[in-house]
Amino acid sequence: MPLLGVNIDHVATVRQARRASTPDVVAAARAALAGGADSITVHLREDRRHILDQDVSRLSKMPGLRLNLEMAATEEMIRIARVSRPDSVCLVPEKRQELTTEGGLDVAGQMARVRAACRKISDKGIHVSLFIAPDLDQVAAAKDAGADFIEIHTGAYAHAKGPARVLELRKVQDAASTALGLGLKVNAGHGLDYVNVGPVACLPGLYELNIGFSIVGRALFVGLETAVREMKALL
Ligand code: PXP
Repeated sequence: MPLLGVNIDHVATVRQARRASTPDVVAAARAALAGGADSITVHLREDRRHILDQDVSRLSKMPGLRLNLEMAATEEMIRIARVSRPDSVCLVPEKRQELTTEGGLDVAGQMARVRAACRKISDKGIHVSLFIAPDLDQVAAAKDAGADFIEIHTGAYAHAKGPARVLELRKVQDAASTALGLGLKVNAGHGLDYVNVGPVACLPGLYELNIGFSIVGRALFVGLETAVREMKALL
C-alpha cells in the first residue's frame, strides 16, 4: 500500500483569506499525523498565496515530521530549500495565474536547468522529486537529471470520465513501471479524492500518494484528523 502524504496548502489558504495567524499549519500538520499521514507537503509559491516562508521554517523544525517542499526550480526557492532542509523537495512548474499546478515539469526540454537544480538540492542531503506528466520521455529525463523520485501527475486521470479514465490510469501505470525499472522511486498525486483514489492506490510499486484539496475540504465537515484517517483507510 502506498504511503499518504497530506498537502496542507489550503489550511493556509483559509488563514490568508484574513491574513490571520489561524488556522495554524503546524497544528494542521499535527492533526494530519494523528490521523495517520506519513508525510506533510506544502507548496511555497512565488506569490506566497497560501504557504509563507515562516511556515516552511516552522514545519521543517517539527520533530517526527517528514516534510516535502513543493516549489519551482528558481534561485530563490533553491536558496530557501537549502536553508530549511526539508526531507524532500518536489520541483513543479509554476504559473502565477494558475489556480493549481496545471501540468508536469518539462524536464526533457530544460535538462540543464533541472539537472543543476537537482544537484544544488541533493548536495544538502535533500531527496529530489520531479513532478511530471505520465510521459515516458519525461520519466527517462527525470532519471538523467539526477532525481531520486518522480511524482506522476494524476490530474488527467482524475478529470477523465469512463473509458478515457481507464486510458489515463494505464498511462500512470506505464510511467510508474518504467520509472521503477530505472531505479526511481515513484509518487503520484493531484486531483485524487475519496472516490477516485482506489485504482491509483492499487498500482504496483507506488511509494506515496500526495493528496490535499479533497482532504482539507472533507476536514471542514469531519475535522482534519478524521479526514486523513478516512483517506488512509481507503488506501
Ligand atoms: N502533488 C503536486 C505536485 C501538487 O502540485 C499538488 C497540488 O498542490 C498535489 C500533489 C495535491 O493535489 P490536490 O490538492 O489536488 O490533492
